[in-house]
Amino acid sequence: MKILLVCLGNICRSPLAEGIIRNKSRLMNLDIKVDSAGTSDWHVGEPPDSRGINVAFENGIDINNLKARQFKISDFDDFDLILAMDKTNYSELLNLARNSNDTKKIKLFMNMAYPGVNMDVPDPYYDGRFQEVFELLDEASEKILEKL
Ligand code: 4NP
Repeated sequence: MKILLVCLGNICRSPLAEGIIRNKSRLMNLDIKVDSAGTSDWHVGEPPDSRGINVAFENGIDINNLKARQFKISDFDDFDLILAMDKTNYSELLNLARNSNDTKKIKLFMNMAYPGVNMDVPDPYYDGRFQEVFELLDEASEKILEKL
């Protein structure tokens, strides 16, 4: 199972989710490959936001070495599940899909954990609520991995 997590900048939400899911799948002995990307190219090559690195570190997860990259069309071939952090990025991915096979792989991240809630993972970039976002991602990731 290969999972790609997608947000806007690939420096706040999706790298946190990547670290959380990688950590949990190791603890749960699951064979999951996980990566993350942004729909924008704004922060390509940058490490995650230092506020996110710190919150992850306090929870025993190291995301220090991740580097932001932009989503690319070949990701549709390389991943089984493409999970968008919010509805804007979800729509953006649907616009990029080449066919129904691509479209089938795209889901809203929170709907994977809580079907039908249609909830966004709030963007902590401006308000700094990284701890809250971490907890939201952590609980949802636990639910997602239990279902896989
Ligand atoms: P992310 O957060 O999509 O969770 O990585 C953001 C990062 C950067 C910006 C916006 C959101 N930005 O405007 O640069």
